[in-house]
Amino acid sequence: MQPSINPWSSGQSIDTRKLFEEFGIEPIGPVLHDLPEVPAFMRRGVVIGHRDYGQIATAIRERRPFHVLTGFMPSGHPHLGHLMVMKEVVWHIQQGGQGTITIADCEAHAVRGLSWEDCNRYGREYLQCLYALGFEGRTYFQSRNEVLKNLAFEAATRVNFSDLSAIYGFGSETALAHAMSVINQVADILDPQVEGAPAPTVVPVGIDQDPHIRLTRDVARKLRFFTVEDRGDHVSVRSKNAPTAALEAVHRAYKGSKKYEGHVDIRGVPLAEVKERARIVEIEHGGFGFFTPSATYHQFMPGLQGGKMSSSVPESLFGFHEPEAAVKKKVMGALTGGRSTLEEQKAMGGEADRCPIYLLNLFHLIEDDRELQELRDRCCGGELTCGACKKETFARVSEFLKDFSERMDAVEHLVEV
Ligand code: TRP
Repeated sequence: MQPSINPWSSGQSIDTRKLFEEFGIEPIGPVLHDLPEVPAFMRRGVVIGHRDYGQIATAIRERRPFHVLTGFMPSGHPHLGHLMVMKEVVWHIQQGGQGTITIADCEAHAVRGLSWEDCNRYGREYLQCLYALGFEGRTYFQSRNEVLKNLAFEAATRVNFSDLSAIYGFGSETALAHAMSVINQVADILDPQVEGAPAPTVVPVGIDQDPHIRLTRDVARKLRFFTVEDRGDHVSVRSKNAPTAALEAVHRAYKGSKKYEGHVDIRGVPLAEVKERARIVEIEHGGFGFFTPSATYHQFMPGLQGGKMSSSVPESLFGFHEPEAAVKKKVMGALTGGRSTLEEQKAMGGEADRCPIYLLNLFHLIEDDRELQELRDRCCGGELTCGACKKETFARVSEFLKDFSERMDAVEHLVEV
């Protein structure tokens, strides 16, 4: 079976309806009501979907512990395209999340063939960007994290080759290191719950990473000792791979509960309470007690030239240390949602929603919603020409870059490794 989403390909377009209908990703709209504050990237439709974000929204609202983790493959300099996910991580930390960043040097080495030295150099640049955006938390390189490698090995006990071929289309020619980079990513996502305490974990990623999320959720469930099921008039705690002593401990925790071969039935106790108790018993008996991780999925900003934003297409993006003149040339030469003649533009207005320049403003440059709406109105109403808009946009870009590179310099010392 061929996979429908390939995390390592570039230039594919993703059908969002299919994601919702076939893959079970949920639209983000309904969970926003549960948040005390809705960040720009969610209000503006940059984040389009999620898995299980409800548990994160609840943790934020009730000020309960949760983790936020994402990872970067250090296969080139960080650029504009990486900024969104970094901002998402920082926002979740500001909402009370414990932050972890993984630099996927093993993946870059295995899949993209980068030397360890280059991985190190690029990895440090990513971390510097994160700190410049206000990141606080733990960071690591996969290759130097022993806990991660042990966890990856443990996770590997729950994945077989047919899973990998179904999810990723791996076959007999796939390098073992490629498969190992998959299991490393599974371990990355679970790592905060091992290094810290088990708690809900949100992983902000681009939608191309969903296969990894699905696999990790599956592994996290398989590593649990019990399933806890609502059976109408009772709750049943069923052992999957729990040591006998652990099932015995569940039985002892509830007076009047009944213990059978492989399961304990409990009456008169709410499901949620039994689930929490089962997790505690699991941890006390050497299990992980994982919460199944959640994810948010963001859309990619188009490249400035209208295609995909990718380091292999230099005019599609700008880096954070590019000379101003080069950045200006890219912004002024960008594709827009403008019409072919000025008359048409005045009569019909521009097409903001498919304009890379408008989206650059929406993703990164204009924080105030009213200001963004004004720009949109002037564009769609035919008042604003693309030339004038690019000039205004470049002024914002240049201010942003100046500010950002100062901040990057100021935080360089925070990157230790
Ligand atoms: N595979 C991701 C990429 O290609 C990088 C990554 C590694 C990652 N580990 C992760 C992303 C854990 C999210 C969570 O960019």
